Amino acid sequence: MKENRELITLAIESSCDETACAVLRGGREVLSSVISSQTEIHKQYGGVVPEIASRHHLTNINAVVDEALRRGGISLGEADIIGVTYGPGLVGALLIGLATAKAYALAMGKPLVGVHHIHGHICANYIEHRDLEPPFLALVISGGHTNIVEVTGYNQCRVLGSTRDDAAGEAFDKVARVLGLGYPGGPLIDRLAREGDPRRVEFKRVFLEKGSLDFSFSGIKTGVLNYINSEKQAGREINRADVAAGFQAAVLEVIVAKTVSAAVNMKKDKIVLAGGVAANSRLREMFEEECGGKGLRLFYPSPVLCTDNAAMIGCAAYYKYTAGETDDLTLDAIPDLKL
Ligand code: KG4
Ligand code: ZN
Repeated sequence: MKENRELITLAIESSCDETACAVLRGGREVLSSVISSQTEIHKQYGGVVPEIASRHHLTNINAVVDEALRRGGISLGEADIIGVTYGPGLVGALLIGLATAKAYALAMGKPLVGVHHIHGHICANYIEHRDLEPPFLALVISGGHTNIVEVTGYNQCRVLGSTRDDAAGEAFDKVARVLGLGYPGGPLIDRLAREGDPRRVEFKRVFLEKGSLDFSFSGIKTGVLNYINSEKQAGREINRADVAAGFQAAVLEVIVAKTVSAAVNMKKDKIVLAGGVAANSRLREMFEEECGGKGLRLFYPSPVLCTDNAAMIGCAAYYKYTAGETDDLTLDAIPDLKL
């Protein structure tokens, strides 16, 4: 019998537009992580086209798995656990990863472990920070999700707040499109905002009802559009850096304030950031400033572990497997899977 820390996990992620596979030893040691991004393909459409994403997952997946095994220095037979994202995400995209994982599990007689994509994003922090342990408060902000999550154990999560409309990353992507910056918009706004003044163009901070940990970001896109149109009508030049900085400040101030107050109210001493938007440089600075003054410890993964990858899915699969949770071949893709 292998010890847990010697277990090898092969993990697959295909929920959106990244075809990814990783090999891990134990829960936190990444032997290889291969990410085949389709960003360049979807760029021309200004966003992910689900049908095209599925097709590219299908053509890429076997080569991505082979490369992960090669770089990880293992053969398929040496994997002890097959982990895979089964939701939430684009159903056609999820199905490619899931069918592949099931085929490997069946052919090699290995246990299959289905992973919730958001659980995976949170687990990226265990890889980055070897001594991090629950409990903590997590903020998951990505292109598809915005959640404040209470994490009480490796497999125990409770959602405290969510977006009621657009996800935070979606807001970044939409505003970037309005500003003619390109796709994906998050990193472009992050960079451009550094050159702007957030006080020159101010947008409404949407806090919703008192005490609510939910978010709403759809109004801010309209706010930015209205501002651009009215400036154009008045014949004034638009300073895109100021608009980017103003938009970013409005979104991030709400996110940081709600997360920090939730951590203080719930007496958590650690805040953990996850998801693509957690790569935002200003967000990290703002959290550093707020947490420092309140005795809160802040954790976040390096950018490559913030955006979609399979290493985080392997970590989550490891913790589910070692807690006795496995799935059988009836496991299905669930596009709106709840945490
Ligand atoms: O986690 P992720 O790769 O995919 C989902 O699960 O959705 O997140 C992608 C999102 C995109 O909306 C992208 O614009 C955003 O993360 N993003 C950023 C930054 N880097 C990526 N948003 C703000 N600032 C960044 N530096
Ligand atoms: Zn994601």
